Amino acid sequence: MSHHDHDPIFNSSDNPHFQDVLTQSLQNPARRSLLRGGLGLAGLAMLPGCGTLTSGAAAAPTALGFPSVGKSLLDNVILPPGYQYSVLHATGDALDSALAAYSNKGTETDDWSRRIGDHHDGMDIYYIDANGKYSDKDTGRAVLCVNHESSADAHFMHPNGQTSNRVGGKKFTQFGDWDLGTRPELEVLKEINHHGVSVVEMVKTPQGWRVKQDSPLNRRITAQTPVRISGPRAHIEAIRSFMVTRWDAAGGMARGTLNNCGHGKTPWGTYLGCEENWAFYFQTTGAGAALPAKEVASRRRYGVPAAAPAAGATRAPSQGWHTVSATDDRFARWNLAATGANAERDFRNEANTFGYNVEIDPLDPNSTPVKRVAMGRFAHEAAVCSLPVAGQPLAFYMGCDARNEYIYKFVSTAAWDPRDVGGGLLAGDKYLSEGQLYAARFDATGQGEWLELTIADPRIANHGAYKFANQADVFINARLAADAVGATKMDRPEWGAVNYRNGEVYFALTNNNAANRTPSKTDPANPRAYMDLDGVKGTGNPHGHIIRFKEPGHPATAKAFAWDIFLFGAEEDSGDANLSGLTAKNSFSSPDGLWFSKATGICWIQTDDGAFTDETNCMMLAAIPGQVGDGGKVTVKNKMMVGGAEQSGTQDTFLGAALGEAKLRRFLVAPQGAEVTGITETADGRTLFVNIQHPGELSKPLASGSSPQSMWPGNAGYGPQGRPRSATIVITRTDGGVIGL
Ligand code: FEO
Ligand code: CA
Ligand code: CA
Ligand code: CA
Repeated sequence: MSHHDHDPIFNSSDNPHFQDVLTQSLQNPARRSLLRGGLGLAGLAMLPGCGTLTSGAAAAPTALGFPSVGKSLLDNVILPPGYQYSVLHATGDALDSALAAYSNKGTETDDWSRRIGDHHDGMDIYYIDANGKYSDKDTGRAVLCVNHESSADAHFMHPNGQTSNRVGGKKFTQFGDWDLGTRPELEVLKEINHHGVSVVEMVKTPQGWRVKQDSPLNRRITAQTPVRISGPRAHIEAIRSFMVTRWDAAGGMARGTLNNCGHGKTPWGTYLGCEENWAFYFQTTGAGAALPAKEVASRRRYGVPAAAPAAGATRAPSQGWHTVSATDDRFARWNLAATGANAERDFRNEANTFGYNVEIDPLDPNSTPVKRVAMGRFAHEAAVCSLPVAGQPLAFYMGCDARNEYIYKFVSTAAWDPRDVGGGLLAGDKYLSEGQLYAARFDATGQGEWLELTIADPRIANHGAYKFANQADVFINARLAADAVGATKMDRPEWGAVNYRNGEVYFALTNNNAANRTPSKTDPANPRAYMDLDGVKGTGNPHGHIIRFKEPGHPATAKAFAWDIFLFGAEEDSGDANLSGLTAKNSFSSPDGLWFSKATGICWIQTDDGAFTDETNCMMLAAIPGQVGDGGKVTVKNKMMVGGAEQSGTQDTFLGAALGEAKLRRFLVAPQGAEVTGITETADGRTLFVNIQHPGELSKPLASGSSPQSMWPGNAGYGPQGRPRSATIVITRTDGGVIGL
């Protein structure tokens, strides 16, 4: 199973899974009018400046122009006939020619702040005009920003895997138990510095796009790069009080970014690296004062250890970075114990400095990245912006990727002004510091509501499980605030995406397990609970689904939406669970990356799967979407074993029109053990950039002596062979045509 499937659940709120609202009629007339009338053409007509919605976006595609790729277990990237790929950059590539080429043997010293990081994830392209400024037109010169998510394969960057120095020599447990030994400083520095974001200039050559080594724009933001804390003017002092550490007693600055998963691109041309599973890097250990009950409640809700583990007890997940030194702040900061006289003397607050969208100006290598606290603190997967309309606020849609977590929306206070394009982090201060934060409730009527997370709401101000001090507390403990207002627990929200043609918002809900979904614990928006029938078997909602919604009027002001389910992931032989009628040509499991091409209108779906991997490696599919409400009501038949007995039930939901083999095709299958995540394109739609993350994920630790599960991309002719590497690939058509059509 994927490392993401270890995500524990920290949502102990009793927010409904929807059983409680099921008594409402699914055939509510209000929903019908919202879907068919109010939100159809009439709804779009209400949009001010609606004509700008489609400017720059292609007309609706009608057919996919490639044959579907078959399932594959090969250790290479498989594409349709007439398509080709090359590797742009891979883990360990040097940003500067002065550095040695990557050994792929783990022999580097700590020069990882000048090498491409590991676990390529969300990314985006930023063209550079003749004046060195941002442009959304193809200038032949660009920087590519790439998130480097995880440490899960860190054993590949050391000669013999990770060292725990545990008594008894126990080598590698990936999560936990590290504080029973002292990890080597060099290993930990390499791991800290391969995290974060890479910003790399690339140029278009006759042979395609190539990295420009030694460009002054080449930059790494790592887990120790200084970053600024930003928030609404009225709350910034209170925000800083949560961020006080021994490193910055004023709480205005913090260090680094971690576990950057999906991303966001702002209309003004900056990059958002979103911090996802940052909680797993911390430990609370050694002597330390007991924490106040409120702090313990906050940490529990975020999966952050609140107290030192008892002798022999299971340790919280961590990478053991804190074990190197209790006095050197580069390492001590990963231990959250209250060891000092107050917060200015230790790092008890360090975890409060993670869990944000981090804004980076890709074209200003000397700029200080900014954490945007007003957008909420949670396990940020990605942040996708609504279609910008001059004179209207901007909305950013954001998933919190853990089981039973929520979908959020941030709406800027400032109205969009196209003159801010190229405005860098100053523009970011304008749009991302002041605004409203909402969480989504999906109702059985097929409508939903955005619930504002504000201390002015008595449900938040008087929340029993956590006593919020102020609005800063609401931003920083957004999960608890969303609990208080009754947001809907989802099947792990991964990427969101906006359809450029009509502004509809899509979210990948990657999967959920049997602890959370049984036939009696489903709801209309998360309606499946079943058993995977063959191969790698999972129970619950093992193949995931993609939900979408449409907001009446302008998204920035919409408090309601209509939703349906765009697609259910399934194996073609999944029986009743195959509700979207998938065949061997387009079956998929665990949607994760999700992205619309502005050039072609294609909806690209990427998978990070552990349930279908006995039959095929992870993949990317192209879909031609319709619109919310183009299908109808369906009744899902659920059946699975629960506690040794078969349980069955039905669940009504709304499902979009079936796409069939004409409108949903498998385009790419990844090497063994890789997930496919991260995608962007050139403005003409003729070059697609795609990330291949953690090939060989199921490799045994190197010290075991067994060979890795994957040898890609070395086996495909890129760089030294021996160990697998994450990479960005560049996909083109051999005839130079537009991708996908
Ligand atoms: Fe980092 Fe939610 O995948
Ligand atoms: Ca299976
Ligand atoms: Ca099967
Ligand atoms: Ca993801």
